[in-house]
Amino acid sequence: MLNIVIFGAPGSGKGTQSDRLISKYGLHHISTGEVLRDHIARGTELGKIADSYISKGQLIPDDLMIRVLEHVLDSDPENTSKGVIFDGFPRTIDQAKALKKMLASRGSKVHAVVGLEVPEDELIRRMINRGKETGRADDNLDTIKNRLSVYHSQTSPLREYYISEGKYHGIDGAGDVDEIFSRIKESLHSRVPGLDGDSSK
Ligand code: AP5
Ligand code: MG
Repeated sequence: MLNIVIFGAPGSGKGTQSDRLISKYGLHHISTGEVLRDHIARGTELGKIADSYISKGQLIPDDLMIRVLEHVLDSDPENTSKGVIFDGFPRTIDQAKALKKMLASRGSKVHAVVGLEVPEDELIRRMINRGKETGRADDNLDTIKNRLSVYHSQTSPLREYYISEGKYHGIDGAGDVDEIFSRIKESLHSRVPGLDGDSSK
């Protein structure tokens, strides 16, 4: 069982690289952003609350977000017990502490944190493009600026947190998608014991 946190600023490629990690290591993907967007699309009570934060580029409060994640883990124990890619969670130190507890109570832990490091002008370019192509509601310049500022103030301190736990794999997240994935595999295979598979695949 392998639990990976994929970490990085908005637009850094967390979702894109998660897809590749899933097919290589057979992991279950939990993107908290996708969970919330699904609730918004279905018009649930959680969706209404989430929309009021996401549309401003703010984080959903920790206590609510932690309960949502716990519910997602409990609703599919068969798949989540095989190993998970956590995409977009944790986003605060309190969420990281809660994740540690949640996994410990299930006899597990975070094995590695993959941090995608991408220059800010490239992040903005990617999100503006996606906004034009898909109409994702929070991909407009004002909201993007708020998302980046929230990332710097509330989420980026997690980098130091996971460095101090010896789990952080900083990856150059700019350039070709497949090349970035190769960098991730190399880093994981060199430092995470017991990883199945060949890093050349
Ligand atoms: P979330 O959905 O997690 O969004 P995000 O962190 O802002 O990140 P994105 O999904 O925009 O980007 P990504 O890093 O996944 O990159 P992607 O692969 O898509 O969260 C949305 C909101 O939900 C938050 O703002 C918050 O309100 C709320 N929320 C979620 N989790 C929360 C939590 N834990 N606590 C509180 N609130 C929470 O790539 C981006 C684009 O670039 C794509 O178009 C992609 O095709 C393209 N791209 C990817 N890689 C490359 C490359 N190498 N070169 C060129 N283009 C590329
Ligand atoms: Mg994403």
